[in-house]
Amino acid sequence: MKLRSGIFTVAMLAIAVLSSPAFAQKTKSPPAPPAAVLPPSPAPAPAPRHVDLADLLSVAGPFHTFLDYLQKTNVLETFQSKANDTKEGITMFVPKDSAFAALRTTTFANLTSDQLKSLMLYHALPKYYSLAEFNKLSSLNPVATFAGSQYTLNLTDNMGSIRIKSMWSNPKISSSVYSTRPVAVYEVDKVLLPMQIFKSDPPLAPAPAPAPADAKTSDDAPSPASGKSASAKAKAGSKSASPRAGVSVASYLAVAVSGGLMMLL
Ligand SMILES: *[C@@H]1O[C@H](CO)[C@@H](O)[C@H](O)[C@H]1NC(C)=O
Ligand SMILES: *[C@@H]1O[C@H](CO)[C@@H](O)[C@H](O)[C@H]1NC(C)=O
Ligand SMILES: *[C@@H]1O[C@H](CO)[C@@H](O)[C@H](O)[C@H]1NC(C)=O
Repeated sequence: MKLRSGIFTVAMLAIAVLSSPAFAQKTKSPPAPPAAVLPPSPAPAPAPRHVDLADLLSVAGPFHTFLDYLQKTNVLETFQSKANDTKEGITMFVPKDSAFAALRTTTFANLTSDQLKSLMLYHALPKYYSLAEFNKLSSLNPVATFAGSQYTLNLTDNMGSIRIKSMWSNPKISSSVYSTRPVAVYEVDKVLLPMQIFKSDPPLAPAPAPAPADAKTSDDAPSPASGKSASAKAKAGSKSASPRAGVSVASYLAVAVSGGLMMLL
């Protein structure tokens, strides 16, 4: 009796399972997408993503010289608060390390801290502009920078080739590192040099600039014989000491790479 009712129960269960709609669906068609379960609510507006400028500049580029100056002058904070401002935003023109290396090392040596600060502020516009907006923007030349209405730039957009003219340099935007409202970071191949700070054209560095790795090896107190291995060590050290690795860094890199590709198209 007991065994019989047991078998009966199992059989009933089997029938129940086989005839249930869930089972039928599984065997006949792919399961319904889980999205159908979600309550029907309007799509939320995407939250504006906070961009950490120091993180971004430390993984792209290399822009270490510019970032160092931004930190030294506290202009980084000014830029970051503008980058946090989703209404206006910021557009930055960031020279690569090689652009700074092309100038004599003494170029900035005699600047007062106020001048250095103005020079950093001169590398940004206090509003977000996509690359597509530069054509219209160039009709407003001269364009005031973050450094104030006296510190202007002349922009030209020649069929998508955009140049940023300061008194003593006329660099091209060589890459879009990041451009999502409210933050635009564009790479330029020269430092912007305003006439308010530089009375004459600053001379270029005489010889090819020393590689940054050489400066690092000096900390390792190398002897001539161990120079090579010390240099290798320093390189490995600088790699492992690279800025906070993680998802955000990876995503910045992805953005930087896709930005670079866009410029190539
Ligand atoms: C910018 O926003 C971030 C995240 O909300 C915040 O941690 C940071 O302090 C802000 N920075 C400035 C300079 O406003
Ligand atoms: C900086 O100032 C020193 C002393 O005032 C001067 O000898 C030197 O030539 C100046 N350097 C530059 C690049 O102007
Ligand atoms: C920008 O253009 C104006 C005239 O359009 C000119 O007066 C000014 O000198 C130019 N500035 C630079 C830095 O080239």
